[in-house]
Amino acid sequence: MNERRSSAPSTEKGGTDRSVPLTAPIAAPSILSADFSRLGEELALADPARDWVHCDVMDNHFVPNLTFGPLIVGAARKLTKAFLDVHLMIEDPSRIIPEFRRAGADQIHVHLEACHDLAGALATIRATGARVGLALKPGSALKTAERYLSDLDALLIMTVEPGFGGQAFMKDMITKVRAAVTWREAHGARYLIEVDGGIAPVTAKLCREAGADVFVAGHSIFRQPDASAALDALRKAIA
Ligand code: DX5
Ligand code: ZN
Repeated sequence: MNERRSSAPSTEKGGTDRSVPLTAPIAAPSILSADFSRLGEELALADPARDWVHCDVMDNHFVPNLTFGPLIVGAARKLTKAFLDVHLMIEDPSRIIPEFRRAGADQIHVHLEACHDLAGALATIRATGARVGLALKPGSALKTAERYLSDLDALLIMTVEPGFGGQAFMKDMITKVRAAVTWREAHGARYLIEVDGGIAPVTAKLCREAGADVFVAGHSIFRQPDASAALDALRKAIA
């Protein structure tokens, strides 16, 4: 259909002075599963011309886990030129969104289920100059997000319950990926469709066939004996 579906990611300006990939398919290693005592080495795995780096921010409130904030995103920014995809799993994030942009986030997702004023949160991201993402928990139907979809740069479809790495992929979410593709085509929307949770070569291939564009993967990359080979296997599976 359009360039979004081309087999190799093109490299474009991402609202920054860096060239970053913005077309499918894109692998996005998630640092949630990385070894933070060697973050520089772990981040060096991502090829800024092809991959994104995914950062999971958790608040021990919207989700039971607690991870990191703008400080680590800022450290990652210094360690890689890759596109930083920041996934906020925090309740009412508007107040802190600009800090993530200042730290170097290229794209920021908020959760539909976490915001009392979702339109306000999305507008706050837009005002910072970052690309705008909306994340949906497995239980949230695409329908509940419809009024926001036209303005999004990315739609993040959770394929596990948010909170922890290493969970099993929820196959039912493939239906949501297909629905997101159909909606995008029907309405001329531009959002990239991301899948996040339990993504490994086999599940990534299923999602790619359903039309997903961006593939977030933690355990299947950073918890493998050869992380670089694992990332390569993911890239091949989605090519
Ligand atoms: C989970 C996070 C994911 C996580 C995925 O709440 O949003 O980004 O890193 O981890 P894996 O790939 O191990 O399922
Ligand atoms: Zn995530």
